[in-house]
Amino acid sequence: MKERIKQILSRQPGDEVISVEGWIRTKRDSKNVCFLEINDGSTVKGLQAVVDKASFDNDNLLGEVTTGAAVRCTGRLVESQGQAQSVELALETLEIVGTCPVDYPLQKKRHTIEFLREIAYLRPRTNLIGAVMRVRSTLAYAIHNFFQEKGFVYVNTPLITTSDCEGAGETFQVTTLDLGKVPMSKDGGVDYSKDFFGKKASLTVSGQLEGESYALALKDIYTFGPTFRAENSNTTRHLAEFWMVEPEMAFCDLDLDAQVAESFLKYIFQYVLDKCPEEMAFFDSFVLKGNIDTLRHVIETPFARMTYTDAIKELEKVNDQFDFPVHWGSDIQTEHEKYLTEVVCKRPVIVTDYPKEIKAFYMKMNEDGRTVRGMDVLVPRLGEIIGGSEREADYDKLLGRINELGLDPDDYWWYLETRRFGSVPHSGFGLGFDRAVQYVTGVANIRDVIPFPRYVKSADF
Ligand code: 4AD
Ligand code: MG
Repeated sequence: MKERIKQILSRQPGDEVISVEGWIRTKRDSKNVCFLEINDGSTVKGLQAVVDKASFDNDNLLGEVTTGAAVRCTGRLVESQGQAQSVELALETLEIVGTCPVDYPLQKKRHTIEFLREIAYLRPRTNLIGAVMRVRSTLAYAIHNFFQEKGFVYVNTPLITTSDCEGAGETFQVTTLDLGKVPMSKDGGVDYSKDFFGKKASLTVSGQLEGESYALALKDIYTFGPTFRAENSNTTRHLAEFWMVEPEMAFCDLDLDAQVAESFLKYIFQYVLDKCPEEMAFFDSFVLKGNIDTLRHVIETPFARMTYTDAIKELEKVNDQFDFPVHWGSDIQTEHEKYLTEVVCKRPVIVTDYPKEIKAFYMKMNEDGRTVRGMDVLVPRLGEIIGGSEREADYDKLLGRINELGLDPDDYWWYLETRRFGSVPHSGFGLGFDRAVQYVTGVANIRDVIPFPRYVKSADF
C-alpha cells in the first residue's frame, strides 16, 4: 500500500525520496517559489510541496497545476520554514495525472453547506465532508468492535421484505409490475401474484423482526445496514434512506437493554474521540464550539432515567412554552425532547414505558395494560438517537396487539411462530447511525453526514 499524507506528515525530515499522490487544494505562486497544498483525503491538513523555481525548469507544467488537479510528485521531506506545519516536501518531480479546468466548483473560498449538497459528487473533497466521512467510517468500526468484543453475532437481514416491521405503513414498495398496466384481480385490487415475489413487497424499515428470530437462536446479535422510510418528514434529522444498528438480546429485559444502550453510546463516542483527534478538533473549531466537551460530559455522566408519565408531568409544567402542548398520550416531539435533555436533565435521558397507542405492536405490554416496555434514548441538541424495547414474548398477547392495531396477522405469521417455539424475554434497540454521526460531529443537518442523502423530492446522483 502506498503511504498516505497523514502518515507522511508524522514523519521526520530525511534524505529518502518519497512519492505523494493527491489533489491540489491551493497554489501560491511567487517569483522564486511556488507552494502547492496537496490533499489525499487522509487528513484535514494537506502536505505543502515547495517548488524552487530556480532548480525546477518546467514552467509550463507548473502553469497547468490548478486547484483540483490530480498530481503525483516526488521529493524529500524537509523541516518547514512556515508555522503551519513541521515538515514539507521539497519537490523534485511533478506529474499531472488529471488536469482540472477553472470551472471546478471547489475553488478556494468558503462554500455554503447547501451549495456543497448540490455538488454531492465533489463535496468529499472539502475539509468538512472529508472529515465527516472519516469519522463516519471510524464510528462504524467502533460499533462492530463494541459488539464483536461482547460476542454478538453480526447478522445480515433482508432489505426486501414482505412484513412492515414498524407497522406504520411508511414503506417504499418494490415491484416489477408495469405501472402503466397493473394487473388487477377479480375483487378490484392489484393482482400481486403476478408481481416478482408473488406478493406485495417493500424495502425494509428495520431488520428487527428478522433479527429477533436470530437472537432466539444465537442469543446476542446485531444488524447494521440501510433502512428505508417513506415518511414525509422534511427535517434536519430524517432521511428516507438511513443506516441503522439493531442489537437484539435473548434473555434480556428492558433494564438490561437500557444499560447496554448507554454503555454502547459511551463506547463509540469515546472511540471516535480517541481515534479521530484531528477531525474532532476541526469540528470543535468550525462546526460546533464546545462539541468535544459536550461529548466528554455525555461519556462521563450517567444517563438520566424517566418514565414517559413523569416526562409528561415535567413538560406539562411549561406547556405554554411549546408549539405543541402535551398531555398524557401525546407523542414527545423534538421541542419536548430538547426541553427534557437540555433543561430538565442537562444530559441524555432514557424515557421508558410509553402509552401503547404511540408505539409499535411488538412492544411488551406492562401490567397496567396502558403502557409498553419501550424506551427512547434522547440526547441534548439532537433528541431521539435510539429507540428500543422489550418485545412481547407471549403469543396470545402479541396476536392480540396485531389485531387491535388493525394489522394483518398473515403478514406476521412467521414472527408469531417464534413465540410458539421456546419463546423467551428478549429486548433490543435501534441506533440511527446517521444521527450518531451527526451528534459526534456536531453537523446540524443529517443530509451532510451521509454521502448521497435521499429525502422527500431528492434522490439525485
Ligand atoms: O425508533 P425507531 O423507529 O425504531 C425501530 O426501527 C426499531 N425497530 C428499533 C429496534 O428496536 N430494533 O428507529 C430507531 C432509530 C431512531 O431512534 C432514530 O435514531 C433512527 O433510527 N431513525 C432515523 N434516522 C434517520 N432518518 C429517519 N427517517 C429515521 N427514523 C428513525
Ligand atoms: Mg423511535
